[in-house]
Order: sequence, then C-alpha cells, then structure tokens
Amino acid sequence: MADSIPPVFLATAIQAVIKAGAMQLAGIDHLQIEKKGAIDLVTQIDREVEQMFRALIADRFPSHVVLAEEFEVRGDRQNEAEYCWVFDPVDGTTNYAHGLPIFCCACSLERNGQPIVAAIYDPSRRELFTAERGRGAWLNGAPMRVSSASALIDSLLCTGFAYDVHKEGDYVLGLFGDFIRVSRAVRRLGSAAIDLAYVAAGRLDGFWEVRLNPWDISAGALLIEEAGGQVSLLNGEAFSSRRGEILASNGAIHSQMLDVIRSRKRTA
Ligand code: IPD
Ligand code: CA
Ligand code: CA
Repeated sequence: MADSIPPVFLATAIQAVIKAGAMQLAGIDHLQIEKKGAIDLVTQIDREVEQMFRALIADRFPSHVVLAEEFEVRGDRQNEAEYCWVFDPVDGTTNYAHGLPIFCCACSLERNGQPIVAAIYDPSRRELFTAERGRGAWLNGAPMRVSSASALIDSLLCTGFAYDVHKEGDYVLGLFGDFIRVSRAVRRLGSAAIDLAYVAAGRLDGFWEVRLNPWDISAGALLIEEAGGQVSLLNGEAFSSRRGEILASNGAIHSQMLDVIRSRKRTA
C-alpha cells in the first residue's frame, strides 16, 4: 500500500492545512459569525478556507471528489469515487468564534473509503500532525506514537458533544458519567480532530464521540492507526468515517473502553 501512494497526496494535504491555518489566524480578529442552528456556528473563514481547498483539488486532481462541511451537496457522501478528499475547513468553530485557541483544519484522502493520507494543523501551536498509510505518523516531522497506559483508571480520556446532542442527551451524558467514574479524568476540548491527533501523539489515551461527520474523524483515525493505536465504532465494529462515530485509543485500553460502552443501553 505505502509504495502505491504518490507523495503528492500527502504534500497536497499539508499544503492545504497550512494555508488554512494562515487564513484562520489572519481572520480571527474580524470574524463574521452566523448561526447554522441554535448552537452551530459558521464564519466567513470556514467558507473561504473550503473554497480555497476545493479550487486546489479541482486544479490538481480534477477526477477526485471533495467531501467537506460548508458546501456539501446532498448525496456527496454516498459518492463512491475511488479518491475522495475529506476536509474540515475549521474544526472547533465554536472555540474559534470565541477566540479560544483550540481549533484546526483537518484533511484526509480516502481511497475506496479508506483514509490513506492525513494532515491536521493547529495554527495556534504550530503543530502539524500527519500520516501516510503503511508509513507512519508524525508530529512536525518527528515520528509520533500513542501512549502506553494500560488501565482505564490511569488514563486521560476525552470526548465531545455534537450540536444535536439533545437528541440522545441521556445516552451521551450517561456515557460521560460512566467514564468519569472509571478513568483518571475526562476532557472536552471542542475539536474532534485535535482530540484524535492528541490520542495519536500520546497526550490522551482514549476518545469517543457519536453523531459526528466524516470530516471530523477521517484524518484523525489514520493518525491513530499509524501511531500504533486502534479505532472502531462504539460497538467494536470496523471504523468507517461514514458511520459518524468513533472509539479511539492507544489500543491497550480499547477493550476496557468497549466494556464501559457496552454496559450502557443505547436506544436512539
Ligand atoms: C465540531 C467539533 C466538536 C465536536 C462536534 C463537531 P466543528 O466540529 O469537532 O469538538 O464535539 O461534534 O461537530 O463544527 O467545529 O467543525
Ligand atoms: Ca468538525
Ligand atoms: Ca467545521
């Protein structure tokens, strides 16, 4: 697999997220903030970054499909093109709109539904997380590995809450409580892509979230697999970015996290 991935794919992902980061920092002091829903925000930078990316891919890889948040057209995620770029122009938009410096841009390229390259860039810390399937994962060019925690009670976990969390509030908050009781601590940073990058970098030991979109999780999932960790659905089945949920860990605590999840009934 690794030998069949042209270097231009990862180079393009890196070029895009670094450019996105520059646009995010340049725009942060004069944001035009709109509401997409009661608590779901969008800024002009989300849109401008995505336009920049769509133009880049159309120019460089005209046969490739783009699946991205702000200009998604109905049916985009069912498109079964061989190559699909999955892109979040700003992940952590609520943080971004409030000036809280925990946001990033996330980009992956999926081949037949499987991420093969990934780049996530946090411009506030100048941290670039990258991965190529079969070759490894890197933080600012240095190899990156998941943590070695082996017991939940010694683990720092993280989760997030989707904008429609109220639709499954009892389940989501119930799970949050379950993990607080059995781990060292549970964080909520507000950017699923950064959360996943931190699992890959060994800063967090595990992460879970439901009701997500492909662009929140595709890049981070590859980072974690290539850093030696594990990703799955919450029932333990094989991960797919299209399924909208992820259980991610260093691998060592994965089955313990699955046990906690399986003990809680999910009705929705
Ligand atoms: C959101 C963030 C957040 C997660 C939400 C996502 P956005 O993405 O990743 O951490 O809890 O479910 O929708 O809207 O900032 O791109
Ligand atoms: Ca997102
Ligand atoms: Ca977004």
